[in-house]
Amino acid sequence: MTNVHGSATPALAIDHTPAGLDNVVAAETLLSHVDGLAGRLILRGYDLDRLAHWSFEAVLALLWDGFTPEALDETTIRAQLGAARQHAFSLLGDLLPATDALASVEALRLLLSALADTEEQAHHLLAVAAVPVFTAAIIRRRKGEAPVAPDARLGLAADFLRMLHGVEVDATKLRALDTYLVTVADHGLNASTFTARVIASTKAGLFSSVIGGLCALKGPLHGGAPGPVLDMLDAIGEESRIHPWLTEALSRGERLMGFGHRIYRVRDPRADVLKHAVAKLRDGGGRIRFAEAVEAEALALLAEKKPLRPLQTNVEFYTALVLEAVGFPRDSFTNVFAAGRMAGWTAHVLEQEQTGRLIRPQSRYIGPAPEGAPVAAE
Ligand code: ACO
Repeated sequence: MTNVHGSATPALAIDHTPAGLDNVVAAETLLSHVDGLAGRLILRGYDLDRLAHWSFEAVLALLWDGFTPEALDETTIRAQLGAARQHAFSLLGDLLPATDALASVEALRLLLSALADTEEQAHHLLAVAAVPVFTAAIIRRRKGEAPVAPDARLGLAADFLRMLHGVEVDATKLRALDTYLVTVADHGLNASTFTARVIASTKAGLFSSVIGGLCALKGPLHGGAPGPVLDMLDAIGEESRIHPWLTEALSRGERLMGFGHRIYRVRDPRADVLKHAVAKLRDGGGRIRFAEAVEAEALALLAEKKPLRPLQTNVEFYTALVLEAVGFPRDSFTNVFAAGRMAGWTAHVLEQEQTGRLIRPQSRYIGPAPEGAPVAAE
């Protein structure tokens, strides 16, 4: 038998797994379950529809329950996150100018890298607190504005928007961001969470693990899609261009951002929660109607062009509209995704550290065998 490179493939004793590890169960977790056939997301026994009414801090308490050294309820987490945001702000120091040449998500990566795995802080709290503080500072610096210090009395979503805009925002926007953070808090063994668990399994430490998660998140096939969703809406421009624009993009073999998912074969339940959230924002009207028209046409064309693969709207499509409506620039959308997903990453790292073993799978060697010496499986 020859492989794709034309050389003889050594006989190996291990099963062949799909390149994308589709359907491979690589961890057991108490944290979340994605039912791709039913379009259902469950976090520790609660359906997303129910959690969408909770605060981000309450969801953190749910995810961290049993994994942190001391029991943390919603109120305690809110207070401790406030203090941790102040600590994160004090770390900004001279580092911020070093981020100027980087994309927003890379700037966040640089600032998070300054956190020492040995630091005597509750790492899970500091990791969650640092993302909004660093992201707001990065965005303001790009506009020539000084960072705004956190207000430890506020909830994380409210303070995130206050640090971004320099003033407290209205309750509707605050609620929309809180819902967004909850909606993306955890989602099974997605690429970034798997990455974080692999790093955690080596005992490298929580910050190193979640920074690895961020690096995986930044790709356009994972958390880098919502900015390009807005680029697509802008490029289409008006209703009459929806059909020709999408048809041409698909005929060039392009992927439509905000559609398709490895697990969901029906609509991503997070898309509807976010669609509902954006509909409540006062100034979202025309933009939502246009986006809905693009979504409907995209779904019809995807069904026609890819009949063998059910392709539905994913979380990123309405993420783009929510984050745009509450005032985040599109090149920072992945940072805001990381602010929510940090809940899941930290919980998975804590769970992995407590219950897991070193994650060390095998590869299937398809290179040439040395002459006269057959190759056994690794
Ligand atoms: N637009 C057009 N075609 C698509 C799309 C899309 N958005 N998604 C998948 N397809 C097609 C592929 O071209 C392929 O077609 P083919 O069999 O004719 O070659 C088929 O569907 C299967 O594609 P895979 O790459 O095997 O599917 P996979 O499960 O690996 O991909 C992914 C999932 C990466 C999310 C994909 O749907 C995609 O690229 N979507 C666009 C980017 C996006 O929205 N990313 C955010 C995902 S949500 C999240 O991670 C938070």
